[in-house]
Amino acid sequence: MSNKTSRIPGFYKLPIEERVKIVKEFADLNDEEVELLRKMGALDPKIADVMIENVIGAFPIPLGIATNFLINGKDYLVPMAIEESSVVAAASHAAKLCRAGGGITSIASESIMISQVQLTKIKDPYGAKVKILENKEEILKIANEQDPILVKLGGGAKDIEVRVIHHPLVGPMVITHLLVDVKDAMGANAVNTMAEAVAPFIEEITGGKVYLRIISNLADKRLVRARCVVPKDVLGGEEVVDGIVLAWAFADADPYRAATHNKGIMNGVDAVVIATANDWRAVEAGAHAYAARWGVYKPLSVWEKNEDGDLVGTLEMPLAVGIIGGATRVHPMAQLSLKILGVKTAKELAEVIGAVGLAQNLAALRALATEGIQKGHMKLHARNIAVMAGATGELIDKVAEILIKHGRIRFDYAKEVLEKLKRGEQID
Ligand code: MEV
Repeated sequence: MSNKTSRIPGFYKLPIEERVKIVKEFADLNDEEVELLRKMGALDPKIADVMIENVIGAFPIPLGIATNFLINGKDYLVPMAIEESSVVAAASHAAKLCRAGGGITSIASESIMISQVQLTKIKDPYGAKVKILENKEEILKIANEQDPILVKLGGGAKDIEVRVIHHPLVGPMVITHLLVDVKDAMGANAVNTMAEAVAPFIEEITGGKVYLRIISNLADKRLVRARCVVPKDVLGGEEVVDGIVLAWAFADADPYRAATHNKGIMNGVDAVVIATANDWRAVEAGAHAYAARWGVYKPLSVWEKNEDGDLVGTLEMPLAVGIIGGATRVHPMAQLSLKILGVKTAKELAEVIGAVGLAQNLAALRALATEGIQKGHMKLHARNIAVMAGATGELIDKVAEILIKHGRIRFDYAKEVLEKLKRGEQID
């Protein structure tokens, strides 16, 4: 049995260097590996160390720029942070197709987030519900006292909703929703603080007991709606339009396909959410909960053919993203991404992200409904395989080219090709 232990009291208090030493010993890291941990790139170790706990390094992923995006009549270069090849190229390509139809329109609602307060141990839940509603003004006042700056900016708690829900094991629960306009923030901190602040008052007026006081990531009052019309000719004809509509119908009728369809949308959405250091888990949770809001999991987009035979795409999903606060404010790369995007509000950022999600979905469906996804994907993947096989410099493209030419985009073949090229052998 190993005498290693992961029980390390005070690990969190140690400087980064000390933590690295401990991990080095534990995992038997060599000096080269330790050096990798030291390279934190654009992220100052001091900043990283306050962003999360127990920091030992930073994890870089590529940042690409999607081109061709015309959204609400404005041109955007879109930073996308993602580890998957093809995604940035696909987004750029689809944006070009959308551009031919006048670009993408995208509108986001106000930044209304929901915070939940769970009241339990109530004999008369419906009576309690109305009592809470009777005290709405006082509840909003208590909530808004928590964030005078937000209120000054025109945001803050605006309304409440109260629902009675039942569970067979624990009986009725009275759930209060605080509806808070969080303006340019993602808003989790603001709404969580408000929920915690109003809880004692809700207990006082109802005699019940509050347990949870927390944001709902099903942010269905903070929606983005994107739309594009793609002329059939730029897609390659009406047959391609029909193929895309059929691909959508498949997703609409089958949750197994809808999951993958929505994954394609999230490829674009998450990449921008990550590039701006927003909470992509929150966006993911919201997206999928919204997709399943009728009790059946559905695609987040719709693809139709209009009277002219052109393709019409729409997307509707919750998007809780901010441009102030949290990691977005402290991470220099997030600041840089926002500067490249040139967005001025969280609403505008959500509109761009919605448009990227729609374009990403179009790219995937167009490829799937025509030549299939692997052709383009494997072309880009060939370079990855070449690097994995040990190619460097000019050899990366040379190896990739041969793999593509021979239709054998495989690691073992890449190694063989690389060795031959290194020996100076000719490969046809
Ligand atoms: C791959 O990352 C995403 C796709 O599977 C999306 C889709 O099938 O619609 C291509």
